[in-house]
Amino acid sequence: MRITLLRDKHIVLGVTGSIAAFKAADLASKLTQAGAQVDVILTEGAQRFVTPLTFSALTGRAVHTDMWATDGDADGHIAHVRLGENAEGLLIAPASAHTIAKLAHGLADNLLTLTALAARCPLLLAPAMDGGMYDHPATQANLQTLVERGATLIEPDEGRFASGLGGRGRLPETPALLGHVRRALGRSGALAGRQVVVTAGGTREALDPVRHLGNRSSGKQGHALAQAALDAGAGVTLISSARGLPTPVGATRVAVDTAQEMLEATLAAARGADALIMAAAVADFRPAQRQTQKLRKREHGEGLQLDLEPTADVLLALAEERSRQGRPRYLVGFAAESEQLLQRGAEKLARKKLDLVVANDISAADAGFGVDDNRVVLLAPGRAPEELPLMSKIAVAELVLARVARELVQSL
Ligand code: CTP
Repeated sequence: MRITLLRDKHIVLGVTGSIAAFKAADLASKLTQAGAQVDVILTEGAQRFVTPLTFSALTGRAVHTDMWATDGDADGHIAHVRLGENAEGLLIAPASAHTIAKLAHGLADNLLTLTALAARCPLLLAPAMDGGMYDHPATQANLQTLVERGATLIEPDEGRFASGLGGRGRLPETPALLGHVRRALGRSGALAGRQVVVTAGGTREALDPVRHLGNRSSGKQGHALAQAALDAGAGVTLISSARGLPTPVGATRVAVDTAQEMLEATLAAARGADALIMAAAVADFRPAQRQTQKLRKREHGEGLQLDLEPTADVLLALAEERSRQGRPRYLVGFAAESEQLLQRGAEKLARKKLDLVVANDISAADAGFGVDDNRVVLLAPGRAPEELPLMSKIAVAELVLARVARELVQSL
């Protein structure tokens, strides 16, 4: 999957001697697929577990192992100088206890530790080690030193090791590692220092202890918006009712179920926010009474009438909040329409006093609910509607966030 933030970025991936070295092959592959130029450095220990060929085949680039090698250019630079100079991110995954100790003390006895000293880019460390090595005071002290110097520590997962022992020390899975790389590279993006609140998913309104009224929203578009905001450097709160979707690395997630919970969480999170992007499909009505006992078929053989009452409109509440407090500065709403897309979208833009409405036609089979693509029209006050072609929800998210960033800069 291509990731705009990673396109053509020079990433150095250092792999050290740990059984988790085999997992780094998947990471190198995913980084390459995302569009990055991945230069892999294998330490001697790493080569006991994996071979340079594994990584050169996956990245399509030479793999580096020798600290004395020149890089073949006319000026005969030693490899680590060029690798370090060019790197926009240096990720060591897995990082062994020994390499961590060397880095903490500035030792430079192999190509990886030399490159780490020469590099001026963000350094990310994903420790992976067996038994109690991670918790050992020596490892912890070394990591603390490195974090104080600006390195990002990617905490290992808990679980079972190859040795059969359990504890903290497993290398996180590739999506988590990728998320950390994105976070580090996005830090200086157009939304650096800004706070963005995103809502996602369809709300669920309880009818009785086992049933609820819900809708078909998957939350994919909202989660993609949160990731795009993170990629642009924003601090992100993701208020989501989508249960199956992972939280993008770096986002603070607030899990909600009902429209009322969505309202409370959004009011609290958006208080000091720069932008609110309301992608959630919030129920407009909820059962007037939540039955405390399960509704029984036999007791409603004739059919069941449900009394519904309106829920609060979250966006409207936030628009009022903005007119009082001036925040959130920028409000984005979504309009899911089955007919008269442009008219209804424009009507929502005006009625909810929004800066942008992302309108989509939910009657189309290839876009919208549940699928990975969306076809949207962007509506903003005083501007002609901007009809976008069918594209991935990720691409829609990036376009929306680029717009938010532009407008926030202009409004200052
Ligand atoms: N929304 C909200 N709170 C609600 C309902 C909707 O904040 N209780 C938000 C949605 O997140 C979306 C926008 O309002 O960003 C448009 O939602 P929609 O339900 O389409 O708008 P309504 O005003 O309810 O209009 P209608 O039902 O007539 O289509």
